[in-house]
Amino acid sequence: MGFFKQTINTVPLEGKTVLVRADYNVPLKDDGTIADDFRIRASLPTIHKLLKDGCKVVIISHLGRPEGRDKKLTLLPVAQRLAQWLGEPVRFVDEVVGDKVKMAIKRAPKRSVTVLENLRFYPGEEANDPVFAKQLAADSGARYFVQDGFGVVHRAHASTSAITQELPSVAGLLLEREYTTITHAMKAPKRPLLAVLGGAKVSDKIEIIEAFVRVADTIVISGAMANTFLAHRGVKLGKSKVEEGVGDTIDAIYVAARKKLGREDVDDFLVLPRDLAVGGALTAEEPRREVALNEVGVDDMALDIGDKSIDDVVKLATEARTVIWNGTLGMAEYPNFAHGSARLALTLATHPDVTSIVGGGDTSDFVLNWDARGGESFSHVSTGGGAGLELMAGKKLPGVESLLDARR
Ligand code: ADP
Ligand code: 3PG
Ligand code: MG
Repeated sequence: MGFFKQTINTVPLEGKTVLVRADYNVPLKDDGTIADDFRIRASLPTIHKLLKDGCKVVIISHLGRPEGRDKKLTLLPVAQRLAQWLGEPVRFVDEVVGDKVKMAIKRAPKRSVTVLENLRFYPGEEANDPVFAKQLAADSGARYFVQDGFGVVHRAHASTSAITQELPSVAGLLLEREYTTITHAMKAPKRPLLAVLGGAKVSDKIEIIEAFVRVADTIVISGAMANTFLAHRGVKLGKSKVEEGVGDTIDAIYVAARKKLGREDVDDFLVLPRDLAVGGALTAEEPRREVALNEVGVDDMALDIGDKSIDDVVKLATEARTVIWNGTLGMAEYPNFAHGSARLALTLATHPDVTSIVGGGDTSDFVLNWDARGGESFSHVSTGGGAGLELMAGKKLPGVESLLDARR
């Protein structure tokens, strides 16, 4: 079944000026250089296709959350990195609308790429201002709008929503791939489907936990999220990161799980850690200590799931045909507490017959760092954080819904 929206493959773009929304909101290092260019690499298939069609490609994106113009958040380094990946020059204009933009695009030849400045330097972007969108469409001279910024389609901003009122709007190849891969895995996965959920907070991920209670065969709860589940059961966790105020949410998750399975004991469906790895300080050198659930000292912090629990996750992942992983299994920034995440990554990367979908900003960062093959070791590493979560939870994404429907 084809994608439900028109794409750059279904409309005639040859030789036209095309406005492309990418999500180049890349992580930056302290010195302002790009820490990871995964989102730039992920945009290449669409740009290659448009260049092959002889288009004049104009790319817009946001970077960070600036308040007004902020030279630390210019897209110039992104344009330079894009030029390296494309192996050809990329023009950069330090405005998004106005005469300078108009002139630069007019002068740009066909089969060229121009990147405009950070959209969020303009208040009209986040305000979803129709006047700003109209100006963007007019000044770019574009005949089509291409939405390829999967990571930002959960926002209703001028470049994801209002712009679609101004130009015929279709999906790029990244958006199409992200959307179809994630929705297929939620709706018609090869089973067993294992969801591995972790990371910082339960409250960030309530809706996907609920969604996986409906669709998954097994759910592993790990990371600080697992601390919160364990604490709710009365496990003493010392100084571990535990989220307050989500007890009712956890109870509701168990009610839903019991209803689905038709039995009281659902511990083999909602799998919590049976041991933990603790440390006494948050430093990269802090040694890892393995403890049972009842052995966490008053000053200990549970920073990873324990070795036995890691074995459980590896076994489940080995038996699964689809694994969706969102949220690190522990404090994966520190190698001593990255064991769980690293062993899951290895299991997925070496599993011949699993569809592995990795999502979440920190989780994707982790696997990309871990993987010598730039993410190729997994079926799909998502470029989306919040957008992926909302899509998995079954929500409609404004930046997708607003595109032209596919012809049936
Ligand atoms: P994602 O961005 O992939 O959705 P989250 O933002 O939810 O993931 O969670 C990642 C963060 O959770 C990381 O910064 C990690 O350090 C933190 N984290 C995971 N497990 C623990 C833990 N046991 N204690 C403290 N922090 C943790
Ligand atoms: C992201 O990184 O999740 C997207 O680029 C959206 O950014 P935002 O959360 O600042 O809207
Ligand atoms: Mg995160």
